[in-house]
Amino acid sequence: MITQQENALLTNTDADSPMGEMIRSHWIPFLCEHELPAADAPPQRIKLLGEDLIVFRDSNGKLGMIDEFCPHRAASLFYGRNEENGIRCIYHGWKFDVNGSCVDMPSEPASSTIRECMKIKSYPVREFAGLAWVYMGSETPAPELPRFEWMEYPASHRHMSRWQQDCNFLQALEGEVDEAHVAFLHRRLDNPQVPKESLFGSYFQEGQAPRWKILETDFGLACGARRHVKNDQPFFWRVDLFLMPFYTMIAPSDDQNSRVWRVWIPRDNESLWSICVTYRKDGPPDAAELGLWKDGVVAHRSVIPGTTTPVENKSNDYLLDRNVQREVSFTGIHGVRGQDAVVTESCGPIVDRSREHLASSDTSIVAMRNLMLRAAREVVNGVLPRTSAGGDIYKVQSYSGLHEDPTDFDHVPGVLETIGIQTRTEKQAS
Ligand code: FES
Ligand SMILES: [Fe+2]
Repeated sequence: MITQQENALLTNTDADSPMGEMIRSHWIPFLCEHELPAADAPPQRIKLLGEDLIVFRDSNGKLGMIDEFCPHRAASLFYGRNEENGIRCIYHGWKFDVNGSCVDMPSEPASSTIRECMKIKSYPVREFAGLAWVYMGSETPAPELPRFEWMEYPASHRHMSRWQQDCNFLQALEGEVDEAHVAFLHRRLDNPQVPKESLFGSYFQEGQAPRWKILETDFGLACGARRHVKNDQPFFWRVDLFLMPFYTMIAPSDDQNSRVWRVWIPRDNESLWSICVTYRKDGPPDAAELGLWKDGVVAHRSVIPGTTTPVENKSNDYLLDRNVQREVSFTGIHGVRGQDAVVTESCGPIVDRSREHLASSDTSIVAMRNLMLRAAREVVNGVLPRTSAGGDIYKVQSYSGLHEDPTDFDHVPGVLETIGIQTRTEKQAS
C-alpha cells in the first residue's frame, strides 16, 4: 500500500523535489532528429520537469537551452530574435548566448558593468544518436551520455517520434511494465491471422494471468512474465526492462529483430513527453513495417501534423468507435499506444495510489515503485543511482522466448547473457 506521502514523493519532479533531483542527475532526451532547429532559426519552447525553457541553435551551429524568461523583467524569449550567436529579447534588447551569458545590453550606458555579471539559466545540451539531450543536474563535468543497444545500428534501421501525454510520468511507466494488461486492453476480437507470440496472438489469451519473476539489476528491473500456453514448449516468457530513471524496453513479439525503446520524461507533474525509437537489428524496415510505426498502429502514436498532440486524445474520447469495440478490438480505439494512453490518462493526471487495490498481476509495478522510492530517498542522502553515470550500463535488450520447463527465465542457460545482465538481485518471485 502506497501512502499519500509516498505518492507525492513518487510523482513530484519539481526542481526542489527528491524525485526531480534524481531524474535531473541523468541526461534527458528532449527532441528527435526531425525536430531539431537549424542555425539562427526561431527558438522553440519546451517544458521539462516543470521548467519553461527555450531551445535554439546559434550561428555557429551550437544548440542551447536556456530559461524562457528574460532575467531583466521576465519577458518571454520565445518571442525573441535569434541573431548572430544569441537570442535577443524584444523588450529592451538584452542578448544571451547558448551558455547563458549576456553578450549585449544596448539599453544600458556603455560605462555600465551590469552586463558582465548577468546570466540566464542555461543547461548543457548534446546531440547524439539522432536525439538532443540536456543535462539538468549538478555534477560538473556532466556525466557520460547513455549508450543503448539501438544506437549501434545505422539511422536507416530506425524510426523515432515524440508526443505529449497528459498524465504523470510514473503512470505511463507503470503501464509499460504491466504485462497482464496485454490480454485485455490490446485484445483483438476479429481473430487476426497473426503469430501466436504477437501482441494480438493467442498466447496472451491462453495465459491471461502471468506468473512474475522480477530481477533488480544495475540498470533497473528485468520484469519477467511467464504464460502457460498450448505448445510443446509451454512456457512463454516475456521480459520487459525498466531502466532508471524513465526508460523502457518492452519484450519483442514474433519478430526478434524488431525492437522498441521508449522514454517517459516528466513535462511537469501532470504531463509527459514520450519519445519512441523502433528499430531493426537486421536492416532497414520494409514499407509495411515502417507504415505500422508511422501510422501509430504499434509502438508510436500519430500526432496532429505540426504538433506533439496525438490524433486520438482525451478531448475527442480517443476517437472511440463503439462498433469497432463490439466487433474488432477490446477498446474500439486505434493503435496500441492510444489504447495505453486511454487508461493511463483516464485515471486522472496524478492517480491517488493510496486508493488502489493491487493484486498479483501488479508485481512489476510494486517493484518499480519500490525502486523509485528508494532512489528518491537515497538522493536526499547524496547517493545517486548507478545509471546517472550513463555509458554502457544501458547496453541491454529485452527478451521473449518459449521454454520447455517452468524454470524461471534467469536460471535458463544463456538468457541473462542474451539480455546482457551483469549484476542482479532477486527481488520477488510470486
Ligand atoms: S525584459 Fe528582456 S530585455 Fe527587458
Ligand atoms: Fe499496453
